[in-house]
Amino acid sequence: MPVITEIEDLKRIYKRRVPKMFYDYAETGSWTEQTFRENSSDFDQLRLRQRIAVDMTGRSTATKMVGQDVAMPVALAPVGLTGMQHADGEILAAKAAEKFGVPFTLSTMSICSIEDVAENTEKPFWFQVYTLKDDDFMRRLVDRAKAANCAALVITVDLQIMGQRHKDLKNGLSAPPKLTLKSMANLATKVPWGLEMLQTKRRFFGNIVGHAKGVSDPASLSSWTAEAFDHSLDWERIKFLRSLWDGPVILKGILDVDDAKMAANVGADAIVVSNHGGRQLDGALSSIRMLSSIVEAVGDKIEVHLDSGIRSGQDVLKAMAMGAKGTYIGRAFVYGLGAMGEKGVTTALETIHKELDTTMALCGRRDIRDLDRSNLLIPKGFEGDWVD
Ligand code: GLV
Repeated sequence: MPVITEIEDLKRIYKRRVPKMFYDYAETGSWTEQTFRENSSDFDQLRLRQRIAVDMTGRSTATKMVGQDVAMPVALAPVGLTGMQHADGEILAAKAAEKFGVPFTLSTMSICSIEDVAENTEKPFWFQVYTLKDDDFMRRLVDRAKAANCAALVITVDLQIMGQRHKDLKNGLSAPPKLTLKSMANLATKVPWGLEMLQTKRRFFGNIVGHAKGVSDPASLSSWTAEAFDHSLDWERIKFLRSLWDGPVILKGILDVDDAKMAANVGADAIVVSNHGGRQLDGALSSIRMLSSIVEAVGDKIEVHLDSGIRSGQDVLKAMAMGAKGTYIGRAFVYGLGAMGEKGVTTALETIHKELDTTMALCGRRDIRDLDRSNLLIPKGFEGDWVD
């Protein structure tokens, strides 16, 4: 067994183990992938201030996200098709998250259903919805999440229309994979993945097939998906979706100060500064670059979280020092899941925690809640100097 010391180690194993179409699905951005790349590389531009002779005993990475205790401010982001990265993937990731003490967010486009995850976990998880047209389906979906005792609703607000990811189109992405000569040749090299997948019955979109009108079988799913998203979404509609849920609501996909100000007025509990992992508007700025101005504009009114680009505990620390109250990992946990199931997700969380804790100590801080901009060296013009 190779020694795992960083998220990249998990990614290498993941790449060998999982069929190419699912690896590509996770490891892609839209169009030129500029935003996808910069989400990570912009973190590298922020430097850390080393401080010495500061008592570093009794450190803590524990804090709260939307009022809920977290062992570190790193939630598992909603990732579609997680159950194709590993058999029963959503259940395994949720189990790893609950043992670690961080939130797991189940995507609407998951393979395991809300009920599957609820039956196999002890603690409440979070549930993500898209802004879909079908009120009846939305209400039933949210009711199912309530029945499963979900602890927060994450509403994705940046996907009214889907950004184009070239690889998915070229691969003919589907769940389960369509058997073409090309996909079969690749699947033949992924035997352990395939054998595990044959042992589970969860191979279709469990929240949708058998639940959405007209989607009684997987074959009818692609036409449903093409029609389902609400192109006419506006803030009134977001208010309505918010009203379906009594508990904490998190709006995911805010990247602009004006939108953040609107979001602060619809009664949400938190926003996630996000460009959907660079999968939507290619050419948009990275989340970490946009974070400060959004925190400055609305940070006193609403909790501000960040996703897109986090691959290490150092990235988490930088986001927290820039003012985020929580972060999310998507790809970083998927690498672990695809590489070695639940244990891989646990390893991803442990790796990030160790990096976060050690970096915090070397920055001279003992409590994650005390981080601020004074822990960073922020290059001049980091946020960009743009013409009005
Ligand atoms: C869906 O939200 C995706 O990014 O693929």
